[in-house]
Amino acid sequence: MDYLKAKGIKSLSGNIEISGAKNASLPLIAMTILAKNNVCIKNLPDVADIKTLLKLLSNLGASYEYNKTETFVDTSKLNQTKATYDIVKTMRASILVLGPILARFGHCEVSLPGGCAIGQRPVDLHLKALEQMGANIEIKSGYIEATAPDGLRGCEIVFDKVTVTGTANIVMAAALANGKTTITNAAREPEVVQLCQVLNNSGVKIDGIGTAILTINGTAGRLIDIKDFTVIPDRIEAGTYLCAGAIINSELTITKVEPKHLGAVLAKLEEMGFTFSTTKDTITIYPAKKIKSVKITTQEYPAFPTDMQAQFLALATQADGTSIIEEKLFENRFMHVSELQRMGADISLNGNTATVNGKSKLSGTDVMATDLRASSALVLAALVSDGETNIHRIYHLDRGYDRLEEKLKGVGAKIERLKE
Ligand code: EPZ
Repeated sequence: MDYLKAKGIKSLSGNIEISGAKNASLPLIAMTILAKNNVCIKNLPDVADIKTLLKLLSNLGASYEYNKTETFVDTSKLNQTKATYDIVKTMRASILVLGPILARFGHCEVSLPGGCAIGQRPVDLHLKALEQMGANIEIKSGYIEATAPDGLRGCEIVFDKVTVTGTANIVMAAALANGKTTITNAAREPEVVQLCQVLNNSGVKIDGIGTAILTINGTAGRLIDIKDFTVIPDRIEAGTYLCAGAIINSELTITKVEPKHLGAVLAKLEEMGFTFSTTKDTITIYPAKKIKSVKITTQEYPAFPTDMQAQFLALATQADGTSIIEEKLFENRFMHVSELQRMGADISLNGNTATVNGKSKLSGTDVMATDLRASSALVLAALVSDGETNIHRIYHLDRGYDRLEEKLKGVGAKIERLKE
């Protein structure tokens, strides 16, 4: 198993190029199930979750040629409709094949994703919406078994909660359904917006893109000629590297980024005393005179993302004063707190709220990554710690960060990947 060894440093400088967004790529790869053509996807990130989903599709009969610049996915020979436990257990986002496979074949089985390190993460809203579209759904021996022999039909869906993969799943199901589907309380995350835009550009008329009410005009089972597209930049990867600049209090430039996707993150960094300059696709962060404490509540886009909570928690250990960080989306997304405490952070947890008393002197030690974003928070803390930190279980990190140690080394970090 790999681990990362990182040494504390005093400054970072230079540019980091941002990869394509993992959480945009996953639904876009699932979307190829709706295609009649060999789909060309540009700018997929080189991360484990992408390989997992491509493998899942190939197990079902699809073929692909993976290349970072241009990946081709051909689902014309896809003939299996069961996503088995061995893959779903490694990646919950496998649930994204449910909507498109059901819409195309009238049948789909997906191993029921269990809970994960950050919470229970049910998929009841996906299933309820598919039932409203006419699917029959049963849970049998740990599998979701969905059938819709006469196809899915458009209807009015109101999500009780905003769900990102739930919205993506229903958009894809609705794209091939009979008639019009309206989704109220839809997710507005840029990753969902891109899925809708790609479908819309490929002839599936979708109204309300980027709003909480989406209307999808289904093709009544006709497969779609999907036009080439380029995956949007990963806003969470970008936010993580901005936090690297911030925690070391150095000037750092992030390139190939979409600044308008990072509004809430930049606003919080600004509150903490950092300044920025931005161009169409770059952001430069400048040092703060003094890093100030902050209050953060995670919420759905465009508010502050839960996927940046762990990184800001690490950053708050270097702020003067008391920061309050409230996690509203997942009930157990504070596993990094105990590891940061072991490095010397002064953090107390009360339910879904962390109170961080800064500034703490952190010291390097052995720590364990518990989920994807927790892993990057530990890397950030390691950069500012005295001595050496060994971050174990980085398979979590490899699921979603494209060559993180290489990118950080490029701006002066002392970090290397080693074998246990
Ligand atoms: C997506 O997860 C992301 N994953 C997550 O990224 C991200 O943290 C999350 O959205 C929130 O932004 C992908 O895009 C692949 P949700 P998702 O459905 O879609 C509850 C990362 O680090 N809910 O929007 O699974 C749920 O429990 C990750 O890259 C239900 O109750 O999240 C949560 O409290 C991890 N029933 C809330 O809604 C449902 O049927 C939002 O979850 C679905 C969700």
